[in-house]
Amino acid sequence: MGKISQFVKAGALLLTMAGCSSPNSGGKDAEIDRFISDLMGRMTLHEKLGQLNLPAGNDLVSGAVKNSKMAEAIRAGEVGGFFNVKGVNKIYQMQRMAVEETRLGIPLIVGADVIHGYETIFPIPLALSCSWDTAAVTRMARISATEASADGISWTFSPMVDICRDARWGRIAEGSGEDPYLGALMAGAYVRGYQGDGMKQNNEIMACVKHFALYGASESGRDYNSVDMSRNLMYNVYLAPYKGAVEAGVGSVMSSFNTINGVPATAGKWLLTDLLRNEWGFTGFVVTDYNSIGEMKTHGVADLKEASARALNAGTDMDMVAHGFLHTLEASLKEKAVTQERIDEACRRVLEAKYKLGLFENPYKYCDTLRGRKELFTEANRKAAREIAAETFVLLKNEGKLLPLQKKGRIALIGPMADAQNNMCGTWNMDCQTDRHVTMYEAFRRAVGDKATVSYAKGSNVYYSEHIEKGAVEPRPLTRGDDRQLRAEALRVAASADVIVAALGESAEMSGESSSRTDIQIPDAQKDLLKALVATGKPVILALFTGRPLDLCWESEHVPAILNVWFAGSEAGDAIADVMFGDMSPSGKLTTSFPRAVGQLPLYYNHLNTGRPDTDDTTFNRYGSNYIDQSNEPLYPFGYGLSYTTFRYGNLQLSAERMAKGGQLKVTVPVTNSGECDGVEIVQLYLHDVYAEISRPVKELKAFRRVALKKGETQNVEFVLDEDDLKYYNSRLEYGYEPGEFEVMVGPDSRNVQHATFVAE
Ligand code: NOJ
Repeated sequence: MGKISQFVKAGALLLTMAGCSSPNSGGKDAEIDRFISDLMGRMTLHEKLGQLNLPAGNDLVSGAVKNSKMAEAIRAGEVGGFFNVKGVNKIYQMQRMAVEETRLGIPLIVGADVIHGYETIFPIPLALSCSWDTAAVTRMARISATEASADGISWTFSPMVDICRDARWGRIAEGSGEDPYLGALMAGAYVRGYQGDGMKQNNEIMACVKHFALYGASESGRDYNSVDMSRNLMYNVYLAPYKGAVEAGVGSVMSSFNTINGVPATAGKWLLTDLLRNEWGFTGFVVTDYNSIGEMKTHGVADLKEASARALNAGTDMDMVAHGFLHTLEASLKEKAVTQERIDEACRRVLEAKYKLGLFENPYKYCDTLRGRKELFTEANRKAAREIAAETFVLLKNEGKLLPLQKKGRIALIGPMADAQNNMCGTWNMDCQTDRHVTMYEAFRRAVGDKATVSYAKGSNVYYSEHIEKGAVEPRPLTRGDDRQLRAEALRVAASADVIVAALGESAEMSGESSSRTDIQIPDAQKDLLKALVATGKPVILALFTGRPLDLCWESEHVPAILNVWFAGSEAGDAIADVMFGDMSPSGKLTTSFPRAVGQLPLYYNHLNTGRPDTDDTTFNRYGSNYIDQSNEPLYPFGYGLSYTTFRYGNLQLSAERMAKGGQLKVTVPVTNSGECDGVEIVQLYLHDVYAEISRPVKELKAFRRVALKKGETQNVEFVLDEDDLKYYNSRLEYGYEPGEFEVMVGPDSRNVQHATFVAE
């Protein structure tokens, strides 16, 4: 078999894959077609354009519906849907206007950023990915959909699946980290959770995968910045999670703010039509991001009118906020800059989405005003959030088994995050009521009861500079205090303690949209506090709050125990207490590399080898690909995370030295829980193609298992590889593999692996 014959042209292969199982693909239901054709036959051009218009509900957050601008627009048939209005009563009123006070009574689709929970808030998506638990992600999405739909929402702007290799970018918090394989699995897990059984039930809502595409590669980690990327890198890495969502049947796609090789994604025909529709077989609708069509002017590409025409022609179906489709497409049609067919196609897709949601059958499907009381922020949902949160924590260091904490003696809980109720959730929590959220201080006191004392001090501001702090915490401000007094109080509390738990890091709004940073250390005031606490000589445990990887070089040397708790949601406090007091052993593993310095960024485990790889991590090699002043290695690599127990890996075994064409290869490794308590280990398998037509990554995650092991238990962990695991996109974007030598690696993280080789025929 010749090498090249193993390859299939990208488009051909993807079409086959998309055609088989996706609810998104395959022949359109004749009944939907008939219904929509009939409806569209009765619609005016203006009504059709109204369906393509998605305004924000900002003026309705506190205002009344009746005489609002939105109400006027709805009555005029100029609104296809709206988003980010909270409260089923308001939503019901607007739906009624659309249904009863417009000529054709077309129902509205109601969107919202339900990103990691609705009223019950789960950990931020980056944290969720560190559970490596796709079932947990589906469970969280199911609960989020149930709560959101009970409050009137039929469409969520999630999952966000942008791969990110640069911790400066604040929106790394919203995605699943740096890996395409895990990212694609997580994307599917979200979609299945939100959409459930094909959006038939009133607690199943439409998902919207975003931000299509490559938004996570924003240059220099600065939000909204440009992206320049080879097709090869796109196909092999960045596109995989979006494709995962499409294959899982996602109903809608949101395009991204960024340009791609100079073209705004909003007007990218190759992206939105050639790739998404023709190669991947996506049949849902495409919505822009917030005012993206309007922003084509500041991109220096086109004014609103031309931008609207270009966006439509590229494959955009719905215009979020810019009002460009509504106000300019009629003129563009007259001038033949757009076609009636393309307007009809976009309108049809939006109507199809409403049909799939069952809104034509029952426009009030999501407006059951009694459901909310029973289904929001329930005990069961909060319990799920607490359990899932505990799975996402990553134990970075635990010298002298300082953790778990004993429920005895005097525990000092110090830091601005220890009792900050409005800072437990992190970015995106749609007007949830933070005064119901559990802080560490509250949870710790509850956990220890009268067995121990817990004393608290805030210890420091987030930053020394009031000005920087303002940007970092808005819109969830923390009360500021006098730096010196805060420190003195912290040291007083620390002085009478047996152990200090420092709750520090980022405030909730330091990651997420528009929260880029050039310095990714713990902010100055908190870092100095931590140094002062360590200087007391007492044992210090760092509970690290963060939405991104931080540079923890100092902490990793001087603080004996570090538990990364991210932003864990409404039940964060209890979940942290569960893990810190040992009711659960931590099992999370990083899905994003933690750098040693901001200068290493972008940093990722699946990099190329270069012609001059770094051979010795500790010394500078002149004319090698390395830095004079810093190692190439991350501080904590992708896949890393400790447990309260230990796991011993036995010898890696392959079932054969060769994998026949069309055959399989079994990879086995015995893993033993060799420590003192039960635990969960995430066993990871990586592959490396030794010689290929183009340089291939030093390793790529191809499989993993979450294995629960009782103390003393051994399990033979087995992986079965086949030729699909060997495939990649070559320089001609053909998908396949080349026969030859492959290296297989298995281990507890991407750095610490055993190696074996086999030959693929
Ligand atoms: C802008 C953000 O980029 C996007 O993620 C979000 O869904 C929309 N705004 C709507 O709020």
